[in-house]
Amino acid sequence: MQINVNAASPFARKVRIVVREAGLADQVREIETAVSPVAPNADLAGANPLVKIPTLLLDDGRALYDSRVICEYLDSLAGHRLFPQSGMARWQSLCMQSLCDGILDAAVLTRYELAIRPQALRWQDWVDGQRAKINGGLATLEKAEPNFGGNFGIGEIGAACVLGYLDFRFPDIEWRATHPRLKAWFATVSTRDSVRETAPRA
Ligand code: BEZ
Repeated sequence: MQINVNAASPFARKVRIVVREAGLADQVREIETAVSPVAPNADLAGANPLVKIPTLLLDDGRALYDSRVICEYLDSLAGHRLFPQSGMARWQSLCMQSLCDGILDAAVLTRYELAIRPQALRWQDWVDGQRAKINGGLATLEKAEPNFGGNFGIGEIGAACVLGYLDFRFPDIEWRATHPRLKAWFATVSTRDSVRETAPRA
């Protein structure tokens, strides 16, 4: 199998952490892939009409996307260690994944707005609206942290990708100052090989 990834993408990082936590690193080749919302990658478009990373290419030529589908597919190959399979634990875990993906959507859209959109076209109210989603999401994660309970499943993997991406692209948010539980939790999980090896890079 091969996965199109990008070292800066937090959604690709989710998948890269799952590859490692699921013990599949020797079965998956990671292909660094350039992506931009304004300069689509023609090669990637052949596999994924949304031209997004991560995209997983199976050995039979079929493609799977997006990060949620790929993460759960990989976990199914590894015996369902990262996604609870039934009951409320499953819905809570999927909801935490959705919360983290939503925070990341807001952060990545803000990044595009500030780094790619021509300055004259930028819309501060829209940026403020995305920031409110990030802040609300962080507050919810801070309250949820006591329930993480040492688990590092798909919800917690999403949370690690959120905090890592904010450090990488938005150090000005200084989330540690107002989220002491997340600060302590992230310091601990950042020592895991899967998290260290996938730290975001430009
Ligand atoms: C970034 O450079 O922040 C980025 C790159 C790819 C996907 C998402 C974000």
